[in-house]
Parts: sequence; structure tokens; C-alpha cells
Amino acid sequence: MSTAPAAGNGKVTVPDILARKSHPANVTERDRVSLTARKIVSLTAYDTPTARLVDDAGADVILVGDSLAMVVLGYETTLPVTLDEMLHHARAVRRGVKRALLVADMPFGSYHADIAESLRHAVRFVKEAGAEAVKIEGGERRMELITRLVEAEIPVMGHIGLTPQSFHAFGGFRVQGKTLEAAEQLFRDARAVEAAGAFSIVLESMPRELAAQITRELRIPTIGIGAGPDCDGQILVLHDMIGLGGEHTPKFARRYVNVAESISRAVGEYARDVRDGNFPADAESFHLSAEVRERLLTGRRT
Ligand code: KIV
Repeated sequence: MSTAPAAGNGKVTVPDILARKSHPANVTERDRVSLTARKIVSLTAYDTPTARLVDDAGADVILVGDSLAMVVLGYETTLPVTLDEMLHHARAVRRGVKRALLVADMPFGSYHADIAESLRHAVRFVKEAGAEAVKIEGGERRMELITRLVEAEIPVMGHIGLTPQSFHAFGGFRVQGKTLEAAEQLFRDARAVEAAGAFSIVLESMPRELAAQITRELRIPTIGIGAGPDCDGQILVLHDMIGLGGEHTPKFARRYVNVAESISRAVGEYARDVRDGNFPADAESFHLSAEVRERLLTGRRT
């Protein structure tokens, strides 16, 4: 069982995230700079050591994303990851996070049958994995579910635009909201998620102008990924950002470090050292005491 740390000591809470909503329409230039500094910094994590690093480095929100399916488990889409796999990884992340708000993604199929079952699944993330909120993909059609989760005291992060669980419906991973009709639908989706009581909303892969307008209209913070710089915060998949995303790395993901290169180089050097007899060195070996060695080598065992 994993539990969330108590609030205090800089712990980020749901109300803290809500309070980070920017109000660009009526701020001075000085305020604009400080609001930018207050943008919500979010990243994904899937295990304890990376969660600890992301938390210690100051992320505000850590999402156990169902991107787990692609960047950790090797699937082509997010669809195959199961509820139990998500819970397993959420528990591991919980053990590494002290300060950030921990949000767990509800995987495909876990909130698509009836509301009571979806509620039970969401409760498992809070009770068994120590998640402080869940993320749900979809807009208008999720209104009832989001309302019920919020009534059950489970904070919800919405997610609209390119919702990866809609892979088949969209015919692939495609930028959304490019036509007037599609943009208007995304507005309706964003308003519905807010009206249902979500505390924040992810805007994924949509034109910058649309994300900016949604951000201006909503009272809850928007967290962008492939949605331009005008959102109230940003999120990236950790593996894309550190160069472990492989071939799937999308155009909008900036790579800050190439960990894949470092790992390849390290493994190559290790292999060379083992084959050349240069690893391990004597200093990396354990030793018998002089007395035991003497007795062992001379055959005097007693
Ligand atoms: O699964 C995930 O990592 C996500 C983020 C990209 C928002 O949903």
C-alpha cells in the first residue's frame, strides 16, 4: 500500500495547482514575468528512481502516464496497458515522490463501461497507489464521469485534443482542432471538463492559437503538450525529454539530454572491459583475511 505525504513543507496540492492559473488579460509586464515563472512544470515518471529525480529537480506535477505502454513496455500505442500494470507503476512512483502532485492516468478500458466500475477503478489509484488525482481522456462525453469522481473526492485532470486512447477513432496520432468545426468542438470539450469540476486540463497536439484561446477562457489551468507556449503549464513524456523515446519521439518534444547515447557508450565500455579482463579490478573484489587465506591455501582447515 502506498500513501501520499501530508500537505505542508512545500508539498504541491490540488488547490496549489488551481491557484497557478494565469490571468494574462489584466496583468502588468512585471506580473507577466512572475506568472511565467509560476507556470506549472509537469513530467511523467514510471518508476521510483526517475520519479525521485524528477521530484527533487522541482517538477510540480508528476504523471504516471499511460505512455508507459509505449516508452517502457514497448507497445505501439497506449491501448494495451492494463489497470494492474498502471497501479504497479503508480505505486513505484509514489515511493519516489515527496513534493510534487502525483496524478495517475486511467488506462483505456478502465473508465469506459459503467460509472460505478470506473469509480471503483479510480478509487484503487488513490487507495492502493497513493495517487492524489486521476487523469481522464475526453471532453463532453466524460462530463458525467468527471462529476461523479469529483463528488467522490477524487480530483480529476482532464485531457483533450490528441487523446492517444482515441488512436483508432482518429486514424493515428494526428494534430487535432485544425478546422473551425474541430476547434469549436475542442472549446465545447474544454468547457465541459471545467464545468464537470476538473482542477486542470491537458491540451495535447493542437494549434497554438486554439490552446491560447482555451487557456484564456477557462478558469482552471491548462497544461500543454504540443499546444504551444501560452498554456498555464507544460508536460512532456520523460523518456522523450531525456532521449530514451526511440523512434516515436514527436516533433514537439524537446530533448534536453541524450541518455540513450550515454547508456550505449557505458555498455560498450563495460563489454570491452569484461572481454579484456579489465573488469572487475582487484579494488572491486572482496578479499579473505590473511589468516583465512593462509589456512585455506595450506590446507589447514581446523
Ligand atoms: O500518458 C501520458 O504520458 C500523457 C501525457 C503525454 C499528457 O497523457
